Amino acid sequence: MCGIVAAAADKNIVPILVEGLKKLEYRGYDSAGLAVIGADRIERVRSVGRVAELESASADTASPTGIAHTRWATHGVPSERNAHPHVSGSIAVVHNGIIENYESLRSELTAQGYVFTSDTDTETIAHLVDQLLKSDRDLFRAVQAACRRLVGAYAIAVIDHSQPGRVIVSREGSPLLLGLGDDGNYAASDASALLQVTRKMVYLENGDIAELSRDGVRIERLDGTPVERPVHVSELSAAAVELGNFRHYMQKEIFEQPEALANTLEIVGGSKTIQPGIFGAEAATLLNDVDHILILACGTSAHSGMTARYWLEAVAGVPCTVEIASEYRYRTSVPNPRQLIVAISQSGETADTLAALRHAKSLGQTKTLAICNVPESAIVRESALRFITRAGPEIGVASTKAFTTQLAALFLLTLVVAKVRGQLGADQESAYIDQLRHLPVAVNKVLTLEDEITVWARRFADKQHALFLGRGRHYPIALEGALKLKEISYIHAEAYPAGELKHGPLALVDANMPVISVAPADDLLEKLKSNLQEVRARGGELYVFADADSEIPESEGVHMLRLPEHYGLLSPILHVIPLQLLSYHAALVKGTDVDKPRNLAKSVTVE
Ligand code: M6R
Repeated sequence: MCGIVAAAADKNIVPILVEGLKKLEYRGYDSAGLAVIGADRIERVRSVGRVAELESASADTASPTGIAHTRWATHGVPSERNAHPHVSGSIAVVHNGIIENYESLRSELTAQGYVFTSDTDTETIAHLVDQLLKSDRDLFRAVQAACRRLVGAYAIAVIDHSQPGRVIVSREGSPLLLGLGDDGNYAASDASALLQVTRKMVYLENGDIAELSRDGVRIERLDGTPVERPVHVSELSAAAVELGNFRHYMQKEIFEQPEALANTLEIVGGSKTIQPGIFGAEAATLLNDVDHILILACGTSAHSGMTARYWLEAVAGVPCTVEIASEYRYRTSVPNPRQLIVAISQSGETADTLAALRHAKSLGQTKTLAICNVPESAIVRESALRFITRAGPEIGVASTKAFTTQLAALFLLTLVVAKVRGQLGADQESAYIDQLRHLPVAVNKVLTLEDEITVWARRFADKQHALFLGRGRHYPIALEGALKLKEISYIHAEAYPAGELKHGPLALVDANMPVISVAPADDLLEKLKSNLQEVRARGGELYVFADADSEIPESEGVHMLRLPEHYGLLSPILHVIPLQLLSYHAALVKGTDVDKPRNLAKSVTVE
């Protein structure tokens, strides 16, 4: 998704803007641009492609005040003319999100003589602010009035050449925060862009408008009421977003999983029991009369929810449904006030998941829990309970360490709900906690399979299609494997519960269709083996991820890799790791842009 950086300081801020955009690259984008207040006009530089190109193109630009943007196209193709900032008269604007009433605004402004030079909805904001400035020369008031006319989701930053030293920002729906520095003040779509200048962050609320100047910030609501927002000191580590020795962030993040899991599970400490309080002070009371769990999420986060459903029903005995957030938010559903709503999201800003959470609350379902990797995110702020995974910043668009830490969090939730419902004996609880604690070591051992997985990846990287099979709690892992492969290698991949094969997909199987199977030694292994025979009988080549206890013989057309341990209920957390590595290496062979796959964005803040 688009990214914004803005600055008003007492020095040249162009290097800060560019560095900030680099930190936002992970969100996905197709063009970039910046505008600064120059000596006699707005100076604007835009480029299609990478921020590095913008950096070269802006090498001679300097100013203490400016705005910058990475654009992920919504209205209009990726091109220089559609890249932000958009300029009207003396002002320049950058914008994230979508303005839903832009067509009527565009007609109105065209009728007043404004000429549009792009296909974007953003340009309407530029002209609207310019038009409002004609009646009130104060930029803050003009932007405030303009925002009152916008319908949709947005975060914007505006500068005016005739009012140097000022940047006006506002948000409704899209993320935006302020950074309070010693030599200036800043704004950005997320904290990682501003760690270079400050750790002091102020998170704007929807409907806030703020002015940044070298000397301070002031915030009002759109109706003109002044507000104060608390200052948070960010704990994000600047080093956490560096690539280090790895070739790609995805590879780095796959290998960070032992540490990410250890950090996430630190909350349990050395204890033999866990308390509901790890989900928030209210958790014990709130979970007490829960009779159903509804999990809402998108993409990889939905797969962690699907895995958790097997745990929650089997261990805690609580009925559980998992819904794709974009479906739930628009569906007429039957509300249940005793239902716990669990919103799972790495970013905590995914528009559909946030909207689904709000929709669930609007139906009177107030028992809400966020499982999220970003403590200050909207989904966390709007949920009654929270569990913050401690995966650290995830830069690669393909989610890896966020997924396994979500699974760890969801297993903790399973144990807590089971306890509250009187379904968990002390011995069993302590055994599960020991297993959780051993996870980082177990994951490390799985990572040693990388070389063998690389050989597999080379063998099927030239294929057009792939089929992933799993059963029971490993079916969502097969889904996740297929999503990873298609997302970064562009090989078409689908996943099925293996028992469904003969109900249709078996027709696709021939020697050109690699079939990847997750086959741990669980109570469905014998059934799965029969399904694998069905594949082999049709000439399909099998790539099987078994574990230490699965008895599956290797034979012609049946390639086997054994995970070092059998991991019982927690086995999905181990089994997804070879699938992540397989996709990563297949993508490397194919030469795709692993960390920024085409058409995708890291943080999907529009629906
Ligand atoms: O930030 P979220 O977890 O809410 O994101 C949800 C999906 O957009 C995300 O998991 C997406 O599917 C990933 N790119 C998959 O690797």
